[in-house]
Amino acid sequence: MKIAVLPGDGIGPEIVAEAVKVLERIAADGFDFTFEFAPVGGAAYAQTGHPLPDSTLRLARDADAVLFGAVGDWKYDQLERALRPEQAILGLRKNLGLFANLRPAILYPELAGASSLKPEVVSGLDILIVRELTGDIYFGQPRGRRRSPDGAFAGEQEAFDTMRYTRPEIERIAHVAFKAARGRGKRLTSVDKANVLETFQFWKDVVTEVHAEYPDVELDHMYVDNAAMQLVRAPKRFDVVVTGNMFGDILSDEAAMLTGSIGMLPSASLNEKGQGLYEPSHGSAPDIAGQGIANPLATILSAAMMLRHSLGLPEQAQRIEAAVQTALAQGLRTADIHAPGTEKVGTARMGDAVVAALG
Ligand code: IPM
Ligand code: MG
Repeated sequence: MKIAVLPGDGIGPEIVAEAVKVLERIAADGFDFTFEFAPVGGAAYAQTGHPLPDSTLRLARDADAVLFGAVGDWKYDQLERALRPEQAILGLRKNLGLFANLRPAILYPELAGASSLKPEVVSGLDILIVRELTGDIYFGQPRGRRRSPDGAFAGEQEAFDTMRYTRPEIERIAHVAFKAARGRGKRLTSVDKANVLETFQFWKDVVTEVHAEYPDVELDHMYVDNAAMQLVRAPKRFDVVVTGNMFGDILSDEAAMLTGSIGMLPSASLNEKGQGLYEPSHGSAPDIAGQGIANPLATILSAAMMLRHSLGLPEQAQRIEAAVQTALAQGLRTADIHAPGTEKVGTARMGDAVVAALG
């Protein structure tokens, strides 16, 4: 099984190294993984002049799965948009057709105190956010800058993006979400802004239609502003949440914080063939890069999702998840989840502890 490894920028290389360590330990039990590394993001721009070189894209396309670190660095913020590091992840999502982004937010009992919410509000939290990843205002055309053609400010400079969704795009993500709900608590919340936006009235209508095929799943609809509020008021009311690209971007960061740290949150981005890209939900954190203090658990848990969703090894995925829990139960904490009475460790120590817990 060929795994393309794209470490990227900032803390990306440090956290990906720990996930590779964990996968190598699994491989030692008789699985054949080959790792092929390639540059991506700012690192690739520095080396080749483009954040997503053709060779990296080809490697990702030909692999069984992609393990991705993070991209982005302030140094590259002044570049024209097409050359910024973020274009690499957007380009990979679009080129590989990775439309279904799964972002589970699970509160480990050991971390109940690390959440900014009261333990009783978050204990037992287990939400899955299903974010559409290749459409919406992120990719909608046209977009750009121009002189405003009409209205009160005609002739002034303006910028614009286009929010749009086609029926098949909504249908396929709805199917993913209903199926996921079926395999868990059988409750799905579709998040929209149907009270204002045509795009999301259509979204709501199409999700409601698809629901007819999943009578065993309970569906409700919620406006995104209310969903943002309910996530901090009563987050346990959610089981699976399905939403568009932009709302999903925002709500998944919010959900992450319920669990104590975004450093704990893995993600999977899947296409219609089951190929996937696996990355932590957090970014490249350039402020702490190179210090060996970043939390590698989101990336390690992303590797577990890879074993489950792309490599057909669910038992091995579970083994990794259990090992993470063991490391936490031993009281080991990186700085982002550190609390009095626990032992503060660095990136590599945490990775080693997970490997050791694998037995
Ligand atoms: C994410 C990130 C990306 C996004 C950025 C880096 C382009 O925030 O994966 O959530 O907006 O999708
Ligand atoms: Mg985001």
